[in-house]
Amino acid sequence: MGSMTGKAGLVTGAASGIGRATAVRAAQEGARVLVSDLASARDAGEETVRLIREAGGEADFQACDVSRAEDQQALVAGVVERFGALDFAHNNAGISSSGQLLADIEDEEFDRIIAVNLRGVFLGMKHQIRQMLRGAGGSIVNTASNAGLRGVRRLGAYTAAKHGLVGLTKNAALEYAEDGIRVNAVAPGTIMTGFARGVTPQRLKQIMKPQALQRIGEPEEVAAAAVWLLSEEASFVTGATLPVDAGSLAGW
Ligand SMILES: NC(=O)c1ccc[n+]([C@@H]2O[C@H](COP(=O)([O-])OP(=O)(O)OC[C@H]3O[C@@H](n4cnc5c(N)ncnc54)[C@H](O)[C@@H]3O)[C@@H](O)[C@H]2O)c1
Repeated sequence: MGSMTGKAGLVTGAASGIGRATAVRAAQEGARVLVSDLASARDAGEETVRLIREAGGEADFQACDVSRAEDQQALVAGVVERFGALDFAHNNAGISSSGQLLADIEDEEFDRIIAVNLRGVFLGMKHQIRQMLRGAGGSIVNTASNAGLRGVRRLGAYTAAKHGLVGLTKNAALEYAEDGIRVNAVAPGTIMTGFARGVTPQRLKQIMKPQALQRIGEPEEVAAAAVWLLSEEASFVTGATLPVDAGSLAGW
């Protein structure tokens, strides 16, 4: 018996990186998973499904742009249609910003980051919680960042969105605890995904400076924390944002 046996749910941004690793890990723990990502990432999303099925798990792909309310609603309906219930959701999809100082950020860029990284999580939780209230409660994990818990130079829009996500996570946890819904977040440090691959050696040096563990993390290390929070193993944890960041927030 895995920690997610009998549970059904969804992971957004699951065509790659942390989302793929969480979908695979949840399935390894016995969950049935609706793997989701942008329609343009369908092939990579189907590859996540293949990895799960190959390991004996149950999964399907459904496209969802998290910034679109109708997609989010359809994604929840997709889980219920396929698996009969929505027990968990990992709101993980996110985009990075272009690394400018605040006064140089284009208005459109700021809006784009907020639309995906903050409004996307709001829309996701809204429809997931509505469904969980009809069912037997559930567990939600949102992917924040250590930029959700402190400022990070040149990532103003991203930092603002992730701080907002942490606040929304706390509010949802308070408002729905009595309904059997737990809501938490993971706050990764630098993880080896599409996000980290483009960083210059100079930027990498800056990133490493506050870290206690002097290496980049693997998506599976975040997935382990996310699935633990999603599972009943974390039954007394709600409203928390768990750093998975090499000790970066511990001080330096
Ligand atoms: N990798 C890191 O260093 C790091 C650190 C802290 C936080 N994070 C967060 O982790 C999450 C996952 O990122 P990752 O590192 O796995 O990167 P990634 O680029 O590998 O994965 C992000 C996924 O989100 C999808 N996506 C982008 N916009 C979307 C949208 N509008 N709707 C649905 N899907 C969309 C992409 O197609 C991609 O598959 C993000 O929220 C990111 O902010 C990453």
